[in-house]
Amino acid sequence: MSATHTTAQDGTPAAPAGQPAGGKASGRPEQPVALVTGASGGLGQALALELDALGCRVAVHYNRSEAAARAVRDKLRNDATVVTGDVGDYDAVRALYERIADDLGPVDVLVNNGAIRKDALMAMQSPDDWADVIRTNLVGSFHTARVAVGHMLRQRWGRIVNIVSPSGLIATSGQTAYSASKAGLIGFTRTLAAECGRRGVTVNALSPGFMITGMTEGLSDKVKEGMEAKAPVPRFVTVEEVARSMGLFLDQDCMTGQTLSIDSGVTLT
Ligand SMILES: NC(=O)c1ccc[n+]([C@@H]2O[C@H](COP(=O)([O-])OP(=O)(O)OC[C@H]3O[C@@H](n4cnc5c(N)ncnc54)[C@H](OP(=O)(O)O)[C@@H]3O)[C@@H](O)[C@H]2O)c1
Repeated sequence: MSATHTTAQDGTPAAPAGQPAGGKASGRPEQPVALVTGASGGLGQALALELDALGCRVAVHYNRSEAAARAVRDKLRNDATVVTGDVGDYDAVRALYERIADDLGPVDVLVNNGAIRKDALMAMQSPDDWADVIRTNLVGSFHTARVAVGHMLRQRWGRIVNIVSPSGLIATSGQTAYSASKAGLIGFTRTLAAECGRRGVTVNALSPGFMITGMTEGLSDKVKEGMEAKAPVPRFVTVEEVARSMGLFLDQDCMTGQTLSIDSGVTLT
């Protein structure tokens, strides 16, 4: 390692991102370390299981639901660890990466899945609630990527997958905050992909349709039926269907900056 490299996961890369730096590409690790934020939640659990099945060693992250995260960890076949921290807090994010480095090594695959939804018509929404959604969903994804990307660039292989939403692509009343956070994350994905492509690091977004998870189970039956009916493929998406796309993201070196929708076609109309 050159003197300009740092050993910390968030160390500055030896050459600016997007610039060729010479030397041989180190390529994909045999058993990549994958961090799934919000792996205690509905989709996150399925993502963790899929990454484990694909040969990754998974850091199962939770914010509040420790028991759920430990239950996910118990289902994994490969080495794994459980970590916690609010992704909106940069110091907490740095601390959880240190824990992963101690237990498994530096993170090669980051899945920004943890998120919140606080819906209200904008004219009635409190500034604190609006900012909390942006802080968790958008700023939190910057925090986790910021710490992860130095190692990925240095080893010339890495994967960042940002979980977005149809609400980042089409209008949904009551969701200005959530929509802005997810639309922002799509822009973040494209620009970070442009910065990192020459170093073998791909950055993509995955947009699931309506799934029954902790985020949606409280909605009324009327709202759920309405959402199901308006999709061209008139059914909800399962978390397993969404998680299956992980193999594509891991394998494809030339797919970057994209938003892959697995959404029953809700964004078509
Ligand atoms: N459900 C849908 O229909 C749908 C549709 C499109 C996109 N999505 C997206 O899918 C992703 C997963 O959501 P889900 O449906 O699985 O909902 P979920 O079951 O409510 O899971 C949300 C996860 O986010 C974590 N989280 C909440 N606040 C956090 C914070 N401050 N820091 C770190 N993690 C935090 C939660 O952790 P704890 O439980 O441990 O607190 C939980 O694991 C989200 O990005 C969501 O926007 C969902």
